[in-house]
Amino acid sequence: MDNGGTMAVALLVFDALYYIFPAYCANAAPVLFGGGRPVDGGRKFIDGRPILGSHKTLRGLISGILVGTLVGWAQEVLAPNVGLTKGSTILGLMLSLGALTGDLTGSFIKRRLNLKPGESLPVSDQIGFVLGAFLFSLPVEPPPLNYVVIVLVLTPLIHLLTNVIAYLLRLKRSPW
Ligand code: CTP
Ligand code: MG
Repeated sequence: MDNGGTMAVALLVFDALYYIFPAYCANAAPVLFGGGRPVDGGRKFIDGRPILGSHKTLRGLISGILVGTLVGWAQEVLAPNVGLTKGSTILGLMLSLGALTGDLTGSFIKRRLNLKPGESLPVSDQIGFVLGAFLFSLPVEPPPLNYVVIVLVLTPLIHLLTNVIAYLLRLKRSPW
């Protein structure tokens, strides 16, 4: 590929990640700000197992929505001043709600499979939140199909990379 072609691909990848960025932040915020009362209030489902489990907390949920929406606001109000594409607060809100709904859905499925909170369910753990985000974006600003493909391919790789970095920084006990 010539230089122009490489540049065009790099810009497309940047635009796709820029679009989904509020969802990434909504997904990361609970790790920093979560804790306390669980969303399911400690209740059990009809199978006798937790509905969502103790790792899905109200504070995590609320901080995720606030942080993701704030990022959307920054993309709308601040980003144009530094030459970046103007985003949208309402899109940030919907991406965040979708990301967290996708995440809770993943936990619901994991509990039905008898996986303990924190145990991994490959694929769902990596892309569940972006699928939720894309779904919730549809009524406000549907993504171009090439953004969806790029994000679905790159998110598991970014997930792995951040986990390895967190492991090297001793923030996580295993790189997976
Ligand atoms: N978290 C939270 N509230 C949420 C989502 C996440 O407090 N609504 C916090 C929890 O401390 C959680 C961490 O963020 O352990 C990482 O989130 P995630 O990997 O999605 O949860 P798991 O610990 O893997 O739990 P589960 O098995 O239910 O997915
Ligand atoms: Mg997890």
